[in-house]
Amino acid sequence: MYKHLYQRFLQAHPDSLHFACHSHHYWPDCTREAHLKYWDDSCKYVDDKWEYFFSGPVLETQQLIAAELNVDSAEQIVFAPNTHELVFRLLSSLDWGKSKVRILTTDSEFYSFDRQITRLEELPQFEIHKIPTLPFESFHERFESALNSGSWDMIFISHVFFNSGLVCDIHRLAAKASADIPFVIDGYHGFLALPTDLSTLQDRAFYLAGSYKYAQGGEGACFMYVPTGAVHRPFYTGWFAELAHLTTVNGEVGYPRNALQYAGSTMDFSGVYRLRSVLKLFQSEGLSTDKIHEFISSNQEHFLRELQKAENAVFNDRNLVTQENGSHGHFLTFILKDTEITKRTVKQLSSAGIKTDSRANRLRFGFGLYQDQQDIEKAVQIICNTVK
Ligand SMILES: Cc1ncc(COP(=O)(O)O)c(C=O)c1O
Repeated sequence: MYKHLYQRFLQAHPDSLHFACHSHHYWPDCTREAHLKYWDDSCKYVDDKWEYFFSGPVLETQQLIAAELNVDSAEQIVFAPNTHELVFRLLSSLDWGKSKVRILTTDSEFYSFDRQITRLEELPQFEIHKIPTLPFESFHERFESALNSGSWDMIFISHVFFNSGLVCDIHRLAAKASADIPFVIDGYHGFLALPTDLSTLQDRAFYLAGSYKYAQGGEGACFMYVPTGAVHRPFYTGWFAELAHLTTVNGEVGYPRNALQYAGSTMDFSGVYRLRSVLKLFQSEGLSTDKIHEFISSNQEHFLRELQKAENAVFNDRNLVTQENGSHGHFLTFILKDTEITKRTVKQLSSAGIKTDSRANRLRFGFGLYQDQQDIEKAVQIICNTVK
């Protein structure tokens, strides 16, 4: 149905079925033109290119993202090459001089955050509390009681957990958190996959996402929505922050009031060009996130029905990670016996022509717009011939 938008990537891999879209999505053909346009614009504007980028392509991309998230102000969005940079900038806005810097999070955050805070925990002032996401039936209650159990300096939580596809009710948890501290949502597995309305959280929550997955523009274009009214002074700061009006107090380094208070410095904006081209493509094709989600959910259901019919010993309902209310990210996660077997299974599937990936003993099948029902049926056939 949407395969015509991905001709170049599909033609480059005629013998494989790509079920790792949740890790790295194929890029639609329009991104190639966008990439070339970046070169042409760099050639045309030379020294004036930063001014051009910020007043043109960057602004337009900010506006498209703001519309997608249903927030009022596009200038509350800041770009960086990856989310790790933004995560560290957030951490650097906390008061490290305090005797205790307390962060509440989960045991299922992506490595860009998890590795960083685990390292910071080696410093005496950092105290990190990770709430296990499983069993998920009680997760929200357990997180809420942790929220009430003490004073926190930052809350960090994923919208869709990367190691399960389970969906967190970010609105419910944000409503229970103190309004005075940063409430940070890692939206990477939600952005352009699950319809996300941040309008009621726009003066309350930070939101991180990027282009490598469902936004389909590839690496190098991550962003953060900064809540309106946030006045922070991250000590990890770069010269892009000076592109906006600075507020200086007592002769200290000044910061802007908009999202550029979280800006870094010189970056390659070709990723932003590609991201912009995808957002515009979806607009022109009438592909809203609602519509994308409906399409993916229906393919996921078809996949599970076909697997059920085949009565596969490994990929079945018993090993599938599911959520009571049925909501799910755009990948399905199966729990296998152990990490070794899982790695081996990923390899076997890859040799048989199905690209997947794994996290420890969890094998993930990702779904994208470039798969149709025939691909799903073919995939199930290959899976059942390969894994018994
Ligand atoms: C939940 C989540 N957040 C963030 C990222 C990407 O992090 P970074 O941009 O630092 O590479 C990923 C990548 O897989 C992810 O799954």
